[in-house]
Amino acid sequence: MADRLPIIAGNWKMHRDHLEAIQLVQKLAYHLEGDDYAGQEVVLCPPFIALRSIQTLIQSDGLPMKLGAQTCHHEDEGAFTGEISVPMLERLDVEYVLAGHSERRAMFGETDEVVNAKVQAIRSHGLRPILCVGESLEQREAGRAEDVVTEQLRGSLAGVTVSDPHDLVVAYEPVWAIGTGKTATPDDAQQMCAAVRSELGSLLGQPTADQLRIQYGGSVKPGNIRALMAEPDVDGVLVGGASLSSEDFALIVAHRRERG
Ligand code: 13P
Repeated sequence: MADRLPIIAGNWKMHRDHLEAIQLVQKLAYHLEGDDYAGQEVVLCPPFIALRSIQTLIQSDGLPMKLGAQTCHHEDEGAFTGEISVPMLERLDVEYVLAGHSERRAMFGETDEVVNAKVQAIRSHGLRPILCVGESLEQREAGRAEDVVTEQLRGSLAGVTVSDPHDLVVAYEPVWAIGTGKTATPDDAQQMCAAVRSELGSLLGQPTADQLRIQYGGSVKPGNIRALMAEPDVDGVLVGGASLSSEDFALIVAHRRERG
């Protein structure tokens, strides 16, 4: 099996102001030991306004955590009121940027074309997209889950080349599992992540696809992390709700610890 560095990311969505953010990261660091970080990447995606405070904390305390942003604009600068560009994120030591989260697709009109422009912008500055794909309940019940995800991958990755497989992460997040408490079974997660990898093989070449990291997201908790991470094509998780609890997120990061 390919040697893929696991990646555990927390997507805080629109939660926590910059002061609460500092507290959350401090508590998280308190719960974690050096070994918990070893051999995997831990990424925090707070709201934009907390990036600067967390950047400072990570630097001053030497925390082995990386910063991610939840979205970006595809232009470097310009008259785009309210938007944040990739070069701005780069200046804050942001390494990862979510692209095409289902909430942005559903509520902010992000089409595959828009997501594609963002992925290209993120790559052009050397940051790493975490490209989110996933089907709705209706699409799953109609037996179209793999088709939907395949189409999202094709559209979002059009014209994208990847020389270092570390530079692109895909997060499979079934919409029906997000914030609902309903997690995909490890079997379902595995089946879909394998389908994602197979499509990535067609798009980017099999050797690259074998090295790319694929995350599962959707109601990941301390109680299901081990079973999900045990699946061969699940290389990490993208955690929403549980990443807002320092105890829960620490348990998720530290899932390899011996217990009991
Ligand atoms: P939950 O973990 O709250 O289901 O959210 C998943 C998600 O959307 C992460 O991006």
